[in-house]
Amino acid sequence: MSSTDGVTDQDVIDVLTMDHREVEGLIEQIAATVDPAQRRDLADQLVAELVRHSVAEEMYVYPAMRDHLPNGEQAVDHDTQEHKELETLLKQLERADAEGAEFMEVLEKIRQVLFDHVRDEESEQFPQLRAHVPAEKLVALKDKVETAKKLAPTRPHPAAPNAELFHKLAGPGVGLVDRLRDKLTGRST
Ligand SMILES: [Fe+2]
Ligand SMILES: [Fe+2]
Repeated sequence: MSSTDGVTDQDVIDVLTMDHREVEGLIEQIAATVDPAQRRDLADQLVAELVRHSVAEEMYVYPAMRDHLPNGEQAVDHDTQEHKELETLLKQLERADAEGAEFMEVLEKIRQVLFDHVRDEESEQFPQLRAHVPAEKLVALKDKVETAKKLAPTRPHPAAPNAELFHKLAGPGVGLVDRLRDKLTGRST
């Protein structure tokens, strides 16, 4: 790893692991929030964070897993399937009334699927990536992931101008999850 100031460079695994803690923290915050408008904002933030994270993994990290891990093919298929499952749940959360019972049910499902997914990545795939991929490549992947994530705003609602920008990402009638995914992957609708 290269270093100019004596501090070891972070790699892509560090960044993705921090994302996991951030998303878990958001879920706790949502569950502890009573005010529906605040809940809605936090839920939209969760949707944005999780979609950005998943897309960045799929674009840059899962291909490296496929190439370098002994069981890469199956691991990527399994993880991608779980991303799809999470996105289906995020779409439900996006539509759910923040005051209704369904909202908390969906949030609980997201928590469970995410827990399993994150455990697999952090206990199996990430250590294997560190073992099989050169350190410089993992640092380079960090930059790619961070650049990719910057393409989509994370806080859709707290300020009006932000919200406006957010809703202009794609045409009306398209949900947040799909707007974000399209924006991040460069797919135009
Ligand atoms: Fe993932
Ligand atoms: Fe992840």
